[in-house]
This record gives sequence, structure tokens and C-alpha cells, in this order.
Amino acid sequence: MENSLKKVVMISGANRGIGRVIAEKLSEDGYRLSLGIRNPCELPDSLSSIPEKQLLCHAYDAKRKDNAETWIEATIEYYGRIDVLVNNAGILHTVGLEDDAEDLLDEMWEVNAKAPLRLTRLAFPYLRKSGSGRIIDIISMSGKRVKGNWVGYSMSKYAALAVSHTARLQGWNDGIRVTAICPGYVKSDMTVRNAPNIEQGDMSRPQDIARVVSTLLLLPNESSVPEVMINCVFETH
Ligand SMILES: NC(=O)c1ccc[n+]([C@@H]2O[C@H](COP(=O)([O-])OP(=O)(O)OC[C@H]3O[C@@H](n4cnc5c(N)ncnc54)[C@H](OP(=O)(O)O)[C@@H]3O)[C@@H](O)[C@H]2O)c1
Repeated sequence: MENSLKKVVMISGANRGIGRVIAEKLSEDGYRLSLGIRNPCELPDSLSSIPEKQLLCHAYDAKRKDNAETWIEATIEYYGRIDVLVNNAGILHTVGLEDDAEDLLDEMWEVNAKAPLRLTRLAFPYLRKSGSGRIIDIISMSGKRVKGNWVGYSMSKYAALAVSHTARLQGWNDGIRVTAICPGYVKSDMTVRNAPNIEQGDMSRPQDIARVVSTLLLLPNESSVPEVMINCVFETH
């Protein structure tokens, strides 16, 4: 897909972590951005300094169906098109196999699995119109294999991977190409909180993920990459 100032990219959870760095990189690449974040007033300087014609920031709480609808509508009203959807917003609660924590399971299901499906569904008609629509789903290695005892997070990410592959099949004939990015540990607040025993310096960097996203968006319809696994430690299975 040709990089051009005209292309419009929606990114969920772009205020910090991986989403923020993807937004910074794609803005540098010249894309027009529509950022869905819970508190649009709390945009970091690196993003709020983007020129107005290249930036829309809209309220988006992944747990609210109406927010998904209004964010999509606002994007169309502002730019008249959607070319790329980056499903990035996500949460990790360390619910293990023997924990009785159904509220936390439900929340991960809402944010990590149902919300990307909802955005995909709502963006699909516009991605079809684009002729070279793209969806980038930030999944996880936890959606590819099970290690340890984060059963709730893994369940939600396996489900998100199913959404990603379904979108890949359903969009193919209309030029929509879908990639699931599956990193291991990435330096971010999420891993500071939940993986304190692993050095942040030993993890992949959000910049690495952003570079992969940027490259994927340059590929034409004829070179689609369904999944990218990114290992920061040696993976035996
Ligand atoms: N870090 C890793 O090791 C790693 C590895 C593989 C995959 N991932 C995935 O990568 C994505 C980004 O993770 P990260 O490491 O950047 O995590 P992070 O630093 O904790 O950032 C999470 C982002 O998601 C947003 N978010 C959370 N709940 C939301 C909700 N209900 N509605 C809208 N936005 C919400 C957060 O917004 P607020 O600021 O409002 O909370 C924040 O922007 C997630 O899908 C995660 O599962 C992360």
C-alpha cells in the first residue's frame, strides 16, 4: 500500500505504551491519524503537537459500544475515509486457572476480544471502500501458545486472534489485508506492573513493534502477512 498523506489510520489506546509509539511513527510516515483514547485531553506532547489536519483525537472506552460507534462516525466526518484500523488497546489481569475472578475475566473479554471485533465490524465498510484497507491487530504471544498461568489473558488473546483471522478471510476479496502482531514481552507499563521479574531492557521495544507496523502498511495487496511473531526470549514452543 502506498504511503500517502491521504491515508487515514485509526489507533485504539494511543495515549501510552505500544499504541502511542505506533501513533508517533505513523504520524512521521505522513498518515492522518484518528486516535481513540479514554481521556482525549491527556494526549502526550509528542502527539498533541501533530498538526490539526493530521490529527483527530476522540473519546474511546473499549468497554462502551456507543464509543466505538461515535469514534468511527467522527473519523468519517473529519476525514471522509478510513484506510487502516490498528486494534491496540488492551489490558492484562493476571487471572490464573484456580482463581475465582470472573469480573476480571469479563473485563478482559470485553476489552481484548469483543472491542476489536466491534471496531473491525464498524470499520469494515470503509476499509472495503478504500480498496486497500488494512487491519493491524496487536495480539500477543499469549494468543499463540500457553506459558505459565495467565489463563484469562490468554483466553482473550486467542479469541482476538480468531477475530483477526476471520477478518482476513472476510475482507480478502475487497482488498482488505489483516495482520496479527504477536509480541512476547514489550517494554511498557503493562509489563512493569505484571512482569516485574523480567528486566525491561531484555524486552522488545515499542519502537520495534511500530517499525513492523510501518513496514506492513507499505506492502501491496499482493504481499499480505497474516501473522508476525516477535520473540524477546528464546521460545521453544
Ligand atoms: N507489553 C507487552 O508485553 C505486550 C505484549 C504483547 C501484546 N501486548 C498488547 O499490546 C497492546 C498494548 O499494550 P501496552 O503494552 O502498550 O499496554 P499499556 O502500556 O498498559 O497500554 C494499554 C493501552 O490500552 C488502553 N486501554 C486499556 N483499557 C482500555 C479501555 N477500556 N478503553 C480504551 N483504551 C484502553 C490504555 O489506555 P489508558 O491509559 O486509558 O489506560 C493504554 O493506552 C495490548 O493489546 C496488549 O495486550 C502487550
